[in-house]
Amino acid sequence: MFTARSLLATITLCTAFIVSGCDVKVKPIEGGKEIAQELERHKIKRLTRQDILAATQKYGDSIVVVAERLHTQRLTEHLNQGGIAAAIPYCQPENYEETETLQDKFGAISRRFSERPRNPQNLAKGGTVKTLARYSSSQEQGITVEELGQDQIRYTSPIYLRDESCLSCHGTVGQELSESDYLLIKEKYPQDQATGYKKGDLMGTWELTFDKMDLVAFLNDQPKKSRRPR
Ligand code: HEC
Repeated sequence: MFTARSLLATITLCTAFIVSGCDVKVKPIEGGKEIAQELERHKIKRLTRQDILAATQKYGDSIVVVAERLHTQRLTEHLNQGGIAAAIPYCQPENYEETETLQDKFGAISRRFSERPRNPQNLAKGGTVKTLARYSSSQEQGITVEELGQDQIRYTSPIYLRDESCLSCHGTVGQELSESDYLLIKEKYPQDQATGYKKGDLMGTWELTFDKMDLVAFLNDQPKKSRRPR
């Protein structure tokens, strides 16, 4: 008969058997160190507000540096090869593939704004006008980082005309910018206001909007949270 006692004995025996069966020397798991490192990497870090603002500045800088370097390189190359007509398709560094890859990585969207733009879509408005006023009155020379409500952080950095090559399209018409080249620009940008600049002039500002959740997700090496369209 199957009594409670015999059931208990059976369980005890089985357990003893299993335990003794398991009595093998414990080998270290293969790749244990890597697994521990990977777990550490996925641990949610405690990020302070300061950490997040400092990261915005750092990643904002890297996006702008890459975009500006490629912009000057590509414009110089295409101006030399085929003049203004060949260079015009390379006038939107915010849309270069390399810039977009970085933006996606850090959870940012970048734009350039000006008070007298070539493309009317780049006209500065609202807070951007104030930023530009601060830049032109030299109250601020460099980068600013500020929180926009709960979810976003704005990074701005002034755009100065530093390279001679810019004058071929933004200089004075009839001087650095020939009349015939200007006709080409006007054809595409009939409302153009972006001429008459000199070396060293403030031309506008970069404005990068970081999604706070996406940035934190990047810092924690986690999948992105926001569902905003890119
Ligand atoms: C081949 C001509 C050409 C050259 C060279 C050129 N630009 Fe432009 N630039 C343009 C065009 C065209 C646009 C409008 C792009 C758009 O549709 O967003 C533009 C737009 C801009 C804007 C955005 C605001 C606006 O006016 O729409 C800034 C800022 C700017 N350029 C700065 C520069 C700087 C700095 C350089 C030199 C590194 C430079 N550009 C060289 C043609 C040029």
